[in-house]
Amino acid sequence: MESKLVKPADGKLGVLCVGLGAVSTTFIVGTLMCRKGMGLPGGSITQMAKIRVGRGQEKQYKKIGEIVPLADLKDLEIGAWDIFTDTAYESALHAEVLKPHDIEPVKDELQKIVPMTAAFDPTYVSRLHGSHVKTAGSRWELAEQLREDIRRFKAEHNCSRIVVIWAASTEKYIPYDETVHKSLADLEAAMKADDREHISPSMCYAYAAIAEGAPFVMGAPNLCIDIPAMWEFADKQNVPLAGKDFKTGQTLMKTVLAPMLRTRCLGLAGWFSTNILGNRDGEVLDAPENFKTKEVSKLSVIDTILDKDEQPDLYSDIFHKVRINYYPPRGDNKEGWDNLDIFGWMGREYGMQIKIDFLCRDSILAAPLMLDLVLCADLAARAGRKGIQTWMSFYLKSPMHDYTRGIAPVHDLFQQYVMFKNAIREMGGYEADEEID
Ligand SMILES: NC(=O)c1ccc[n+]([C@@H]2O[C@H](COP(=O)([O-])OP(=O)(O)OC[C@H]3O[C@@H](n4cnc5c(N)ncnc54)[C@H](O)[C@@H]3O)[C@@H](O)[C@H]2O)c1
Repeated sequence: MESKLVKPADGKLGVLCVGLGAVSTTFIVGTLMCRKGMGLPGGSITQMAKIRVGRGQEKQYKKIGEIVPLADLKDLEIGAWDIFTDTAYESALHAEVLKPHDIEPVKDELQKIVPMTAAFDPTYVSRLHGSHVKTAGSRWELAEQLREDIRRFKAEHNCSRIVVIWAASTEKYIPYDETVHKSLADLEAAMKADDREHISPSMCYAYAAIAEGAPFVMGAPNLCIDIPAMWEFADKQNVPLAGKDFKTGQTLMKTVLAPMLRTRCLGLAGWFSTNILGNRDGEVLDAPENFKTKEVSKLSVIDTILDKDEQPDLYSDIFHKVRINYYPPRGDNKEGWDNLDIFGWMGREYGMQIKIDFLCRDSILAAPLMLDLVLCADLAARAGRKGIQTWMSFYLKSPMHDYTRGIAPVHDLFQQYVMFKNAIREMGGYEADEEID
């Protein structure tokens, strides 16, 4: 479809995945199968949702690709970096998420996706030991090598645009440090000085992507692009950013249930979330320094929805706990339990409980988010949008927001969906609105 507001999606879109593990390969296999007409893109809003445009007599329900010019799945060229040499085919089999009958029909295409050497530092992911990694004298040099990879991939695959998306392991927790992460000049100086304490490998990927004019999406909770220096760089380069941490299972439920409690003025005494999972992500998150990054992301969710200043009697004393347990027998099939202690009429003495047992499949939930984030990031770039894309918060557990200006993140899934639909409407030349569908 054509649009006056968004450049057309002409040519091929290169999708470079950082990490070729369970989530990436589930995304890749599914995308290749769907474009052959052999799979259902369930969970993908860009492929399946219909959005209302116009009101009253004018109203119409259209698929997103009929409102704005989205890249066609047939035009995606996928590449990756990983610390292991397995091709997408080998890695997909190893991940044991999709069954061989869903992998074999696209075997040839998967075998051609051979990972490029990774920018990796074992102090950031202590549980992984891979040898397919770059050597560089500094973080700056590492970013330069990644820039070359992006340029080479773009030329070799004849792509008109590139999006880089992080679906690699969660890095250890590093706090925001004003002396390094606030301004672009300080960030670049630290990269050149090889400041490994403050500059993570993921920051090198993000820096390289932005430098090459490619939108960057952060699917893990890493600090990475969640710093003013990266926003400054993205602004300068006219590059959109989205992050962080795919909102897939338990957190998705939280951002649905918490608004229900607030709407009904029900109080919350405590929310305990725990889960078992046995994939490599679970193994990485078993290390306390990596779990800390995930914990901060998962804990951020309910405070802004259940505001203690707005409703002190209901939300001033919430005990919120999040646990993750590495349990190999379950593989990618995570089981998540949530217990909510709630109260209402006549207070805490008449407490009630809600229990959720979510038997999910981690990568099956995350893969469509990867596809949508890639397509939306590319759309945003062609629409001339740059910096943090708050309208994409819908897909993210810990949506980026300019905390230096006191801007609060929006966590409520339904508010996020309104923001998402309105951005699509505006890019499609329709009026934004808040009418309930
Ligand atoms: N599946 C979900 O529901 C979900 C939800 C939110 C976030 N995530 C995040 O998505 C990420 C991927 O999850 P997964 O299950 O695919 O994990 P995985 O362990 O199967 O895959 C991660 C891959 O990244 C590679 N890797 C690690 N560091 C790298 C680096 N610096 N450069 C290149 N490659 C690197 C690893 O070798 C591995 O192959 C994790 O950070 C996870 O926390 C997943």
